[in-house]
Amino acid sequence: MAILDAIKRWRLARRGLSSGKKRRVHVESAAVQSLELSRWVRYSLYAMFVVATAVLVMRASPTSAFELEPVKGAVCGLLFALTAVALLHSSHDAACRRNSRVVLVLGALLGHVVVMWAVMGLSRHQMIPEALRFLLVPFALAPMLLGVLLGRPMGTFAAVFASLIGGLLVPAGDRLIYTVLSFVCGVTAVLATRQVRKRVELLRAGIFSGVAGLLVALVLGRVDWLELFGSEAMDRWQTFGLVGLAAVGTGLVTALGISGLLPVFEGMFRVTTGISWLELSDLNHKLLRRMQLEAPGTFHHSLVVASLAEAAAESIGANAQLCRVCSYFHDVGKLKKPEYFIENLHEGSENPHDALTPTMSALVIIAHVKDGVDLAVKHKLNPRIIDTIQEHHGDSLVYYFYRKAQEQKRAEQEKCDKGLGNREDLPHVDEKNFRYPGPKPRTVESGIIALADSVESASRTLRKPTPAKIRALIEDIVQSRIADGQLDECALTMRELAKVKESFAGTLRSMLHSRIDYPKDDEAKASGAARRADPAKSTLGLAERGDATRGGRTMKPGEAA
Ligand SMILES: [Fe+2]
Ligand SMILES: [Fe+2]
Repeated sequence: MAILDAIKRWRLARRGLSSGKKRRVHVESAAVQSLELSRWVRYSLYAMFVVATAVLVMRASPTSAFELEPVKGAVCGLLFALTAVALLHSSHDAACRRNSRVVLVLGALLGHVVVMWAVMGLSRHQMIPEALRFLLVPFALAPMLLGVLLGRPMGTFAAVFASLIGGLLVPAGDRLIYTVLSFVCGVTAVLATRQVRKRVELLRAGIFSGVAGLLVALVLGRVDWLELFGSEAMDRWQTFGLVGLAAVGTGLVTALGISGLLPVFEGMFRVTTGISWLELSDLNHKLLRRMQLEAPGTFHHSLVVASLAEAAAESIGANAQLCRVCSYFHDVGKLKKPEYFIENLHEGSENPHDALTPTMSALVIIAHVKDGVDLAVKHKLNPRIIDTIQEHHGDSLVYYFYRKAQEQKRAEQEKCDKGLGNREDLPHVDEKNFRYPGPKPRTVESGIIALADSVESASRTLRKPTPAKIRALIEDIVQSRIADGQLDECALTMRELAKVKESFAGTLRSMLHSRIDYPKDDEAKASGAARRADPAKSTLGLAERGDATRGGRTMKPGEAA
């Protein structure tokens, strides 16, 4: 097929009908997709985890002075592993929809238990002091890793099951203290990494986890620091320092290891953490620098969309950092033909759309989505950024050019009615040709960016903005997007939409502050009362903007993009 496509392109290029180049597209191979979503693969992973846990507990039983026989130990391990799998399958289905995530979660949990078993083994062979053995276990390992990569619920899940399964590998007398220590340290690490944006915050979480472990050990009497090394001559504070160093050092080394391995895990399991989003928000990216020089209007538009989307995402607890970065790149495709987009036109300069038919203009405008994907794939941008580029217009209509085409057709028809033209030459106006290819926004963040994009474009046409006009504009845009079905595939609830609208209004008010015409108290009350009495007047702001925008659709050439 690829060869046939190449031949077709070459023949078209020879006739001057094609540039001969093929746009890059972002598609996952069918084999990877079926592996990722296969139920059989998922159930096999579950079975492997359950069996591996049971075998590990059974093997550890005789050496860890397990009071039960190995078989009973294995049954306990099996039950804990089955509970973990059942909980993962039912409660965390959304987080683990892909099988690679299941590998990550269960692999991290199993890896944690193996590391803990290894530390216990060192202690059994007197390679580390008996009193320090619990403080040298990296309790924060799986909880911190999964908390940072997949969020707090998954981190807590790891803290609970790492404590329960790990507890089976220690002598019966120590089981309770081990489970409490492991649980407290794990949960502390998860809580401390709630919103990690910098690597240093990971290290701080590691220290917190170590301090929590030390406090629990002291409270439960696990650390008798006067007799720690059987030496009464040893200075009390020096001994305490050693114990503290062991606990905090273990937390710190765990955090350091996770920090170093995060990029590997992010690449392998296609997860992006807050740390990476912050690193990606650097405006010095090659594409953004190009945009700054070649399409300054689009660059400014993207910055405003980023501020609107970030604040809105923050208000509903969505991923604000992701929204900021994806907004920076959402219109990167305009770099191919920046002069066709109104925000890049200089005052008094010629509008290139004047020389094109409406259908041609719509094609150029719509192409910025595919061009954006092409550039993003070429520059190896994050898959979430590529998704946002594809989804930020959904399958909405390029209304300005669609209406222009209809008007032209009507004018031609009138000519024909007067006998001045040929009916066969009448242009065919198909709505399909004026629609973006989609898909519609599929995530909450993508939905927010799509709304912020429309709000920013429309706000530029707002003359003499007032807080009431800004609110009316936002309301109108959101309602028209809902009516057009553009938010059907993202999980934004009505309650969240209300918060998003409120956030947009606040951000826009502060951005347009110098232009805002605040009405006097009496006028504001009067207009508020009038709107309540006649809901049709809620689109006052739009009506006053004349035909520049209507129904949230921007109608100036290129602005619809
Ligand atoms: Fe845009
Ligand atoms: Fe766009």
